[in-house]
Amino acid sequence: MSDPSLDNYSPDRGQWGSRLGFILAAAGSAVGLGNIWKFPYITGENGGGLFVLVYLVCIALVGLPIMVGELMIGRAARKQPVGAFTALSGPSSGWRIVGWLGIITGFIILSYYIVVAGWAMDYTLKSVANFTDPIAETASAEAKAYRATTPLEEMRAALVVDRANRATVEKVAEVRGEAPRSAWKAWEIYQKALTEAAAPGGAGVATAEAALLEDAEFARKIDLVRPVAARIDKLRADAKAEAAAFYAAAEPKQIRDAAETLDRRHHIADAVGKAFGTVVTDGWTGTFWALLFMLITVLVVAGGVSSGIERVSRVLMPLLVGILVVMVAYSAFQPGFGPAVSFVFEPNPSRLKASGVLEALGHAFFTLSLGMGAMITYGSYQAKKENLVRQSILIAGLDTAIALLACLMLFPIIFSYGQEPAAGPGLVFKSMPLAFAEIGSGGMLLAILFFALLVVAALTSAISLLEVVASYFIDQRGWSRGKAAWIIGGVIFLFGVPSAFSFDPDFALASWEPTFGKSFFDTMDYLASNWLLPIGGLLVAIYAGWFMPKRIRRAELEGMSAAVIQGWLGLIRYVAPALVALVILQKVGILTLD
Ligand code: TRP
Repeated sequence: MSDPSLDNYSPDRGQWGSRLGFILAAAGSAVGLGNIWKFPYITGENGGGLFVLVYLVCIALVGLPIMVGELMIGRAARKQPVGAFTALSGPSSGWRIVGWLGIITGFIILSYYIVVAGWAMDYTLKSVANFTDPIAETASAEAKAYRATTPLEEMRAALVVDRANRATVEKVAEVRGEAPRSAWKAWEIYQKALTEAAAPGGAGVATAEAALLEDAEFARKIDLVRPVAARIDKLRADAKAEAAAFYAAAEPKQIRDAAETLDRRHHIADAVGKAFGTVVTDGWTGTFWALLFMLITVLVVAGGVSSGIERVSRVLMPLLVGILVVMVAYSAFQPGFGPAVSFVFEPNPSRLKASGVLEALGHAFFTLSLGMGAMITYGSYQAKKENLVRQSILIAGLDTAIALLACLMLFPIIFSYGQEPAAGPGLVFKSMPLAFAEIGSGGMLLAILFFALLVVAALTSAISLLEVVASYFIDQRGWSRGKAAWIIGGVIFLFGVPSAFSFDPDFALASWEPTFGKSFFDTMDYLASNWLLPIGGLLVAIYAGWFMPKRIRRAELEGMSAAVIQGWLGLIRYVAPALVALVILQKVGILTLD
């Protein structure tokens, strides 16, 4: 077979030293903030079980075949994405654009990725300084004062509200799902209008109601919500009655103890939330950590493929798995472990919406590092004669296992400390420190381990993002590896500075949000994860399935059974493109699913 890489060979182009090294590096790219930070919070927001199941199906039917496709393209061409399409389909091939798209996507993702990684570094250092300790101390003092000064009945009432809330939060979210979101919006408007109309000087409830319900579409929505809202009210009332009965039977001392604990946790949650706010809104600190993180990333990439990326992955990946296992072992002994396991693994049909299915598919791309040529690039450093399907299964399997373990580490703690699983992006940065503060002295060690885990996971992923962009300049422009890593790393860092400042109220970038509806940071994430990756993935699937020269495809799949090859072709030609196209159509608004 002709080897397209031999023309235009660059001496700075590397190769993996071993099969294991490649697997660890590719898994290192896949396992990142997406697994430990993002997957648990979107699982929490989408109600657990069924979302996880859908995600697993997306990994198997869409992620896996596209990963095989990317590795195949890279290995056959021995080039990064732009060069790869040219090498395989000729210099005038329009597919080169896919490569360019990948480079731009990598540039964008890395620019805000280093900011989140920077927060994790900041938190690691804070943990070494035992930052939760003073928080816990102050909170304890405040809770003691609360206990000493608050009447028993008031404490009892606070406990009843808390117990009833916790008992119903999951169920309420489930029942809410029975009416569409747009109907709930109408309901909110309706309730607000009625409250205003009932106030002195208002138009009166009957008049306001009649005016609102004149709109047939609005009235239809209200009718949809009315029975659901009534059931939720009933659920809440029942839970309140149960909680009231529960605490009616309690001894005064029990009440005081429980109320003190509850109050302490409220104070800790407040302080921890404020601490996160301080980190996020301080652009200078964010920039400093992002710079430091980028510096480390550049040093590794400048070190080369086998002596930089592979060597670091060989150390960091086992370390990451080790830390995760220690954390899961800790969580397994927490009272919240049982509820957490059923939350993550029990399919719960009424909580998942169509938009959640799409989110699962989009996340499958992000978490497997697909859709922008990272796997094309890593595949290009691969020696021939490895079984790509088996390797992809290994990489995707490792990534999935780590995402699930991350859930089994987080949710037991969340449930044991009465936290909300649907807390959003702050889940890791707010809920975890709360648990660390409550645990006391051992909490410091866990906190250090946990945030170091986050940094390690982010580093091996950031390396792959930088490598994609840098390798273009190495392969196509003849730059030396060191020059490419430093210059490109520097430029991407500069582009990341606005992300670091996008929550800082003292800077003009904070006004991006009122203007564009999303912070600069979120705009970048949204653009990359919701548009660029799915589009890139779709194009890669179409190329690998339909347009890649048959001769090359056949050579790459040599030695695999006919069943495996047919299965892969079916997935990459039909299933994966159809599913991804569905996501894109829904995003464009051509398909509306609630
Ligand atoms: N997969 C990484 C994560 O889960 C992020 C990442 C690294 C990535 N390289 C990528 C995402 C390439 C998309 C494309 O955090």
